[in-house]
Amino acid sequence: MKIAPSILSCDFGRLAEEVEAICKAGADLVHVDVMDGHFVPNLTMGPMIVKAVANASSIPLDIHLMVENVPFFVDMYASLKPEFISFHVEEEKHINRVIEQIRSYGIKPAVVLNPATPVSFLEYIVADVDMVLLMSVNPGFGGQKFIPSVIEKIKELRELGSKKNPNLLIEVDGGVNDKNAKMLKEAGADILVAGSFVFGSKDYKKAIDSLRG
Ligand code: DX5
Ligand code: ZN
Repeated sequence: MKIAPSILSCDFGRLAEEVEAICKAGADLVHVDVMDGHFVPNLTMGPMIVKAVANASSIPLDIHLMVENVPFFVDMYASLKPEFISFHVEEEKHINRVIEQIRSYGIKPAVVLNPATPVSFLEYIVADVDMVLLMSVNPGFGGQKFIPSVIEKIKELRELGSKKNPNLLIEVDGGVNDKNAKMLKEAGADILVAGSFVFGSKDYKKAIDSLRG
């Protein structure tokens, strides 16, 4: 199980220190939530801040785009060479084209499903991505309550993946904590994103270890 702390919940006044702290605490990826105030009702960070995160990090970035005009943002963040760029299928009309755009930079493409979007949406896309991110809250804010129907979706996606993409990674994002991590792992999740749980704890290493199980 890999853990990707979401820096959305960190102390932004001490951004570089916070990034260094989660790297030291054994995080696998830094999850970066880019919001544009249009696709979601919140604004987070732009390219200068994400660059500062990349500079402070000794582990790869996992960039989660919650934006309209996805291709524009893919071009904006590609030069930082993140491990993954993920975008929402609810927004993008030309999904295959954007997957190819991300791949053309040597970055692994991932698609994201909101809690209400069915796994069946992925039938003809799942073979073309490295990862699917399942949201377990409605995107826009850290610290929201976990929506348990994601457990069913993980199982369904594992099933679809076993037929169409055996190497598929499944990531879960939203309301993840030490109470639901085990359930998510057993259902078939590979990567857990956790914002408020990690940054709200006193000991980041202990928090990350408790999610890994
Ligand atoms: C929500 C973001 C999440 C968020 C998770 O829109 O995509 O990555 O930071 O925060 P927690 O773990 O506090 O739900
Ligand atoms: Zn996220």
